[in-house]
Amino acid sequence: MLILSKAAGVFSKPPNSKVYEFLRTFNILLGTRFHHKLVLGIETSCDDTAAAVVDETGKVLGEAIHSQTEVHLQTGGIVPPVAQQLHRENIQRIVEETLSASRISPHDLSAIATTIKPGMALSLGVGLSFSLQLVNQFKKPFIPIHHMEAHALTIRLTNKVEFPFLVLLISGGHCLLALARGVSDFLLLGKSLDIAPGEMLDKVARRLSLIKHPECSTMSGGKAIEYLAKQGNSSHFTINPPMQNAKNCSFSFTGIQQNSYKLIALKEKEEGIEKGQILSSAADIAAAVQHTTACHLARRTHRAILFCKQKELLSSANAVLVVSGGVASNLYIRKVLEIVANATQCTLLCPPPRLCTDNGVMIAWNGIERLRAGLGVLHDVEDIRYESNCKLKKLPVDNGIALVAKHFNHSTLCT
Ligand code: KG4
Ligand code: ZN
Repeated sequence: MLILSKAAGVFSKPPNSKVYEFLRTFNILLGTRFHHKLVLGIETSCDDTAAAVVDETGKVLGEAIHSQTEVHLQTGGIVPPVAQQLHRENIQRIVEETLSASRISPHDLSAIATTIKPGMALSLGVGLSFSLQLVNQFKKPFIPIHHMEAHALTIRLTNKVEFPFLVLLISGGHCLLALARGVSDFLLLGKSLDIAPGEMLDKVARRLSLIKHPECSTMSGGKAIEYLAKQGNSSHFTINPPMQNAKNCSFSFTGIQQNSYKLIALKEKEEGIEKGQILSSAADIAAAVQHTTACHLARRTHRAILFCKQKELLSSANAVLVVSGGVASNLYIRKVLEIVANATQCTLLCPPPRLCTDNGVMIAWNGIERLRAGLGVLHDVEDIRYESNCKLKKLPVDNGIALVAKHFNHSTLCT
């Protein structure tokens, strides 16, 4: 309720209201500046409060983000009520900053798009409540956004990519391989059977006490591993990739986590240091973990490319592999995936790192894609709810190369 009344307060009597009004009049008079459709995107599914305004040509008019990473690093993981409180404290400012950087009034928007699934319930709730307040106040259509669909489609904002394309989505909460056939039409080829790669990297970074490392104390776990790995040698330690003989496109990361923990405990004993201190071999361990993660991702993706080519699901002349999500900002992982793409005559495309991690631009762009396709644009928001999870049914399809595939859409795009 706090958020709702705050939102109402700000947007009924904003300090910038005169500016908004002027810009709107200016727009009506000239009839050119806002010729394109404009969508405000709002993201609060995890630990970033983010917003952006994007037009239908993909131009980002303005964006703002507040990251909670440093707070959650201190507590050794995300505490949902803390994340909720921080979203509450920041959402109004972030949306205001976005609108003022965009130099538009909420009246100029064609729609408001907001992540409603999947994610942390308490966090999703803040973004949804705030957005619905705006929707009702400014009488705008609402576009509910699936967070993973948004990660998958970001590439169509930065590059000219036609459907179908293969997409590997690797983040802190998900690991998915899918054939993107349309804005909301995905064929799921594989997913993680346990945790996501980002979660595993975060846990290993925590176990290595990288928060105490002067150079990476404010970085997310995955980013800290990448940073430290550059100073290490990946061949000093061997961490075996999981599922080497599995004839499918599933993933697993708990084995890499457990083997890393064992290695760290062993080195602590050898170096005679307590848990919580930084090992002299931390950089080599980070490099080995990153290498094994990259190899595992690459092997499963290789299978998926071969499957898609064999089944003629991807164009043989112009096949595209897209990699997105927070872990896709890792340049070493990209390099390894590039080798797979080259070997299979695919083009590898990744959004720039800042658009791989959570952001408002991807949500606004997903709104534009849905607006253009006329998909899921709501004028009545009475029944709209957030969903922290949505389960996939079992996928027991054997298709010749023993790979499972399942048609799925907006309601099932999740692990
Ligand atoms: O997509 P994202 O921002 O949020 C989720 O939807 O989960 O992904 C966050 C995850 C975190 O686990 C973080 O450690 C990881 O992405 N990450 C990285 C890098 N930057 C962020 N992992 C590996 N290398 C990076 N450079
Ligand atoms: Zn994400």
